[in-house]
Amino acid sequence: MSPRPDPRPAAGGPPAEAAKAAPRPGERTAADRLAFWSRQAEELHWETRWSEVLDWSAAPFARWFTGGRLNVAYNCVDRHVEAGHGDQVAFHWEGEPGDTRTITYADLRREVCRTANALLSLGLRAGDRVAIQLPMIPEAVFAMLACARLGLPHSVVFGGFSPAALQSRIEDAGARLLITSDGQYRRGRAEPMKANTDEATRHAPSIEHVLVVRRTATEVPWTEGRDLWWHDLVDTQPDEHRPEAFDAEHPLFILYTSGTTGRPKGILHTSGGYLTQTAYTHRAVFDLDPDTDVYWCTADIGWITGHSYIVYGPLANRTTSVLYEGTPTTPHEGRHFEVIEKYGVSVYYTAPTLIRTFMKWGEQLPARYDLSSIGMLGSVGEPINPEAWRWYRKHIGGDRVPIVDTWWQTETGAVMIAPLPGAAPAKPGSAQAPLPGVSAKVVDDQGREVGRGESGYLVLDQPWPAMLRGIWGDEDRYRETYWARFAHRGHYFAGDGARYDEDGDIWLLGRVDDVMNVSGHRISTAEVESALVSHPSVAEAAVVGASDPTTGQAIVAFVILRAGATDGDAAEVTAALREHVAREIGPIAKPGRILVVPELPKTRSGKIMRRLLRDVAENREAGDVTTLADASVMDLITAGLTGRP
Ligand code: PRX
Repeated sequence: MSPRPDPRPAAGGPPAEAAKAAPRPGERTAADRLAFWSRQAEELHWETRWSEVLDWSAAPFARWFTGGRLNVAYNCVDRHVEAGHGDQVAFHWEGEPGDTRTITYADLRREVCRTANALLSLGLRAGDRVAIQLPMIPEAVFAMLACARLGLPHSVVFGGFSPAALQSRIEDAGARLLITSDGQYRRGRAEPMKANTDEATRHAPSIEHVLVVRRTATEVPWTEGRDLWWHDLVDTQPDEHRPEAFDAEHPLFILYTSGTTGRPKGILHTSGGYLTQTAYTHRAVFDLDPDTDVYWCTADIGWITGHSYIVYGPLANRTTSVLYEGTPTTPHEGRHFEVIEKYGVSVYYTAPTLIRTFMKWGEQLPARYDLSSIGMLGSVGEPINPEAWRWYRKHIGGDRVPIVDTWWQTETGAVMIAPLPGAAPAKPGSAQAPLPGVSAKVVDDQGREVGRGESGYLVLDQPWPAMLRGIWGDEDRYRETYWARFAHRGHYFAGDGARYDEDGDIWLLGRVDDVMNVSGHRISTAEVESALVSHPSVAEAAVVGASDPTTGQAIVAFVILRAGATDGDAAEVTAALREHVAREIGPIAKPGRILVVPELPKTRSGKIMRRLLRDVAENREAGDVTTLADASVMDLITAGLTGRP
């Protein structure tokens, strides 16, 4: 594929797609925004048109496209086949060991129909929940789309989560079916998966069946009558299935994410609004041409980025995508560049943590590959520092392609803030401006908009189609978490700090709550703390995210050990604690460092002052200690740490 010209000249008109999508002159009011989203929804196939674009009368519970009926999977698959694009590749799948599979839209339709028929044969009916824990294999996409086709909300759980984490998610959602695999390839090794999911389902009585994909030919424990092989059940099903239309507000999926407490939140997304905004943003932000582009989003399907920008958005737009199973280092560090060269990837969407890892490996690595197909680069998951932005553009983008820094969240469902190609000159490190149809502001403590050059909290002051519809089973927590902070203004509080520059462009500054961002993964300090204190050696724990040059933040834990726990080797105890956290939550939550301390800094009301611990973790002089109940605690902590690595 030939390289595209930079569609974002500093001056000059926007490219066709962005121009089509851009708001019409004067489109600033709420009514204009609704008209804009109405036009975007028309790009989808609706069995019944909506009667009202937005019903906000039960705010903060939104209803978009009320009265409308559609089938999400039909929109992502069948309609492209019916329009004559059955032979177009939907996915170039690349397995970690080097096996490949090419899946056209016609193939995808057949696989999704078979999977849907299989789920029906198990007695599942619209509204039943299905848990999915799978590696990045095509069956993960088939499973999600089959659920969408039947109106079964799916709950995809990242493959790296522990049995305990999977169990709590299954229980919270009350899933009837779990779809998993025998094993998964991780860094060249086949690791067990089914053995872990069995541990999770042992205490999850809602699960009636476990559907198992054979991926690694690993030996698996088997429960007769409950467990079913995918190749036995799915591959023998009829190729045809007639999709039924569901209400625009029918639940599409639940996706668990970390908040400020120890218990993950089941973020609920529904159908019509979600698909409208994921499809629109994917088309407009990446300036995507379905006939020529090869798109690759490197996220895992277990995260929102995988849901919105590997599955729903790209497929609704009839995109040809790369789906890659493995880690970027397997079998060698040039793997991503090799894949870009092999498939002529033109749009590459990844996270700053990986870009910084590439930087560490050195520019000679991408230089060995032909990356001239790249025409657009994307970034997501955390603020991208200008140095990484420039390196990305120079060494992956040949110093000629635009980079879109996309800000959004599991809760927003789709991109909210990003520089639209062609709309403005690029600013390295800034997500810049809300997309058309989206309204975001930076406000002070009172919810008043701050001025140019000032910082504050990022809020979304108008509802948007892909917004979460709540937290599964917990209305109060939904109101409390997102809407209580600026209730008097009706703003959604994102939990991020942000700043306006002198042009009024938005710069994201990271989380302002107790949520950490480690390699683009959201992990709450409370979650890791509660895992640590569940270990018999730990009396108390406090966790902070400390700046890290590669992962953005690294998890640093301060623990007070119980009497007797220090008798052994301290290094052994901390190693055991790291393993314990990996078992409780998953390897992504393993603290990088665990520091054993005699006390924790607390206010008079007993609240741990993480700010001071962050100072210690980042090797700074501790800041203001006047609000501590006992100011000498910091001396005790730092004295105890002196001489430690
Ligand atoms: O802090 C922001 C950061 O990631 C958080 C959302 O995490 P999650 O729900 O896991 O979704 C990640 C993928 C969308 C946000 O609150 N974040 C995400 N994208 C950016 C970002 N921070 C700065 N710039 C971004 N582009």
